[in-house]
Amino acid sequence: MRLDVLTIFPGYFAGPLETSLLGRAAERGLVDARVHDLRRWTHDVHRSVDDAPYGGGAGMVLKPQPFFDAVSELYGDLDARPRTIVLTPRGRLLDQRLVAELAAEPAMLLLCGRYEGIDERVHTRLAHDEVSIGDYVLAGGEAAACVLIEAVTRLLPGVMGNAESATDESFADGLLEHPQYTRPPEIEGLAVPEVLRSGDHGAVEAWRHEQALARTAEVRPDLLARWRERRAAARQDPMGEDPRVD
Ligand code: ADE
Repeated sequence: MRLDVLTIFPGYFAGPLETSLLGRAAERGLVDARVHDLRRWTHDVHRSVDDAPYGGGAGMVLKPQPFFDAVSELYGDLDARPRTIVLTPRGRLLDQRLVAELAAEPAMLLLCGRYEGIDERVHTRLAHDEVSIGDYVLAGGEAAACVLIEAVTRLLPGVMGNAESATDESFADGLLEHPQYTRPPEIEGLAVPEVLRSGDHGAVEAWRHEQALARTAEVRPDLLARWRERRAAARQDPMGEDPRVD
């Protein structure tokens, strides 16, 4: 996947894009992420990217012209841009369904806001989606872009070592993940549940499912309610939508 990011803080991405899963995906040519400094498309001596808001009010707004010039130069034409996403707290909440949808795109362009946001005409003309990573306000879109990039990259074919681990996890089937244990069998007076050491795969599966249900009921009753609805619908219409996909 080709990824372009427009930001006034390109240095923000250096660590995340080079480390661990993202770094390996880049080395192996599975993702080609290019971070661009928006200031490259400023033309004044101060290389200013922001200006005061029309109508007054506190703070500054990112100017539209550097965004339009950047997109024109990167893709040759505004309408040749790939799926374009503005990271903003006013956007649609990112969830695993949207992550999976984005992972199917050949390319994406991520626009990071700062200050009081980006001039509305950039949203209107360029954004296919506005995405928020949660109901809280960050200092800018950069951290949100990193979150989106990591969530999408790990779904790209060949990125995850163990093919199963991308599906056998929280949200893949709409429930939170069951607890995991590794050695030693006991530490700090806490033992690994006996069933996990029993070698009985059926019992292990059943235990994990119970744990996932209990955990989801406690922490995310909203997810559990949706999971139950989907399961009921799937039972009425066994040929219908796969209840795992949400
Ligand atoms: N920019 C500031 N806050 C944000 C959020 N919660 N999600 C995405 N972008 C943001």
